[in-house]
Amino acid sequence: MAAITEQQVLDALKSIIDPDFNKNIVELGFVKDIAIDGERIAFTIELTTPACPVKEEFRRQAEAAVGALAGVGDVQVNITSQVQRQKTAMGKNIPGIKNIIAVASGKGGVGKSTTAVNLAVALAQTGARIGLLDADIYGPSIPRMMGLEGRKPGIEGKTILPLNNYGVTTMSIGFLVPEEQAVVWRGPMVSGALTQLLNDVAWGELDYLVIDMPPGTGDAQLTLSQTVPVTASVIVTTPQDIALADARKGIAMFRKVNIPVLGVVENMSVFICPHCGETSHVFAEGGAEKLAAENDSKVLAQIPLDIQIREDSDAGTPIVAARPDSKQAEAYRTLAGEVARHISILNARKVDIPVVMQMQ
Ligand SMILES: Nc1ncnc2c1ncn2[C@@H]1O[C@H](COP(=O)(O)OP(=O)(O)OP(=O)(O)O)[C@@H](O)[C@H]1O
Ligand SMILES: [Mg+2]
Repeated sequence: MAAITEQQVLDALKSIIDPDFNKNIVELGFVKDIAIDGERIAFTIELTTPACPVKEEFRRQAEAAVGALAGVGDVQVNITSQVQRQKTAMGKNIPGIKNIIAVASGKGGVGKSTTAVNLAVALAQTGARIGLLDADIYGPSIPRMMGLEGRKPGIEGKTILPLNNYGVTTMSIGFLVPEEQAVVWRGPMVSGALTQLLNDVAWGELDYLVIDMPPGTGDAQLTLSQTVPVTASVIVTTPQDIALADARKGIAMFRKVNIPVLGVVENMSVFICPHCGETSHVFAEGGAEKLAAENDSKVLAQIPLDIQIREDSDAGTPIVAARPDSKQAEAYRTLAGEVARHISILNARKVDIPVVMQMQ
């Protein structure tokens, strides 16, 4: 039998369509390094994010498509990724940081920090290079939630050395400034301090930097959104009307400064009973869906109201790391996948050159 050709492999892989780009993976330039050794075929699929939700589905489809070719024995699919750098409207990219995700909420206490922490850890678990910046100087909770309370970052000359836990490079204004001092800061001081943290911290190479924003939609938040080159934002809300009304203001604020809103996280969505494990709707259903629909946005994930999430947070062991097999961790992984894929779509769309060229 004639040997398998590279073209046959490519033709077989053309049957795999990327749902986000609506093109096949060959056309998108994702297929690389095809190696043919008799009946053994190996190749690489390079995705736009290691957190791609269809990663395993692609692997399965690729194995099946190439495996179905006559004369093919073994198929080795190697999946890698190359996260695209953001193209911000502001054009003030920070060297080494490819994308910045602002986790925000209109109202305080809706679970923004808990979401930011678990999102960051879930993204890191996929192999992405992740940073987490606590911008909530009025109530920094990242040090505790990340199990880094009481630790001090090192200083080398003018550079601040971030701390690391759960694979996440972490910096909090709370590591540097006593809380009672920071509470009297006004908006411009906050954004000044943050710009400094972004520029003076040795972040290294990051695919995504998650920023836990201060709650609210006032001047401080507006200045911040205008100073930091944010790729996109994620709005956290709870299902109550009051929180939803504030989330609406949050969406409006980001739109005003031309920062795309990736979508809404409905936190404390359903209650998981710690005794029987049964779920119930404590608050009205469908509020976040309605909010998203009204604002031409989407619900990225629904996180249950669950005592374990709070206990793990308080203990400095985020549930995604502490209980990776739980339903709650799964919800945060869904969020991570959604955030990563929407950023990939955004970065592909924002360039003038066709997607196919950018991906090569
Ligand atoms: N899904 C959840 N289930 C149970 N408890 C939660 C959940 N999400 C957050 N919490 C708890 O609710 C409280 C507030 O959460 P968190 O600190 O994340 O909110 P926040 O929006 O960052 O608040 P702030 O506005 O003060 O910064 C915390 O005690 C946290 O552990
Ligand atoms: Mg917080």
